[in-house]
Amino acid sequence: MALRVRVCEVTDVIAGELRGYDVDGVTWPVMVTRLDDAIIAFPGVCPHDDVSFVDYGVLDDRAVRCRVHGYTFDLDTGRCVHMPALQLRRYKVTLVGPEVWVDLL
Ligand code: FES
Repeated sequence: MALRVRVCEVTDVIAGELRGYDVDGVTWPVMVTRLDDAIIAFPGVCPHDDVSFVDYGVLDDRAVRCRVHGYTFDLDTGRCVHMPALQLRRYKVTLVGPEVWVDLL
């Protein structure tokens, strides 16, 4: 069974912007952006070394780049461009009316 949580409103998600939303009971915020018509959501922590994407993540076209060591994660696949063994998890996104919900599990 999925653990589905509400993150934000659809209108909060803007192409070219990366935002983090705190969720009760979750350590790292949920990062959200829009690519084309799709809303993309992923954990707000760099898979390389547990730093916050709210503080160090930069949207770079269709990827997020971590400013700590410069690793870039393709948001279409989650794959790290610099270290293929690293994978950025992406959450399943469900729209419920005007709201964005993600499956954390
Ligand atoms: S901590 Fe993010 S690239 Fe190293």
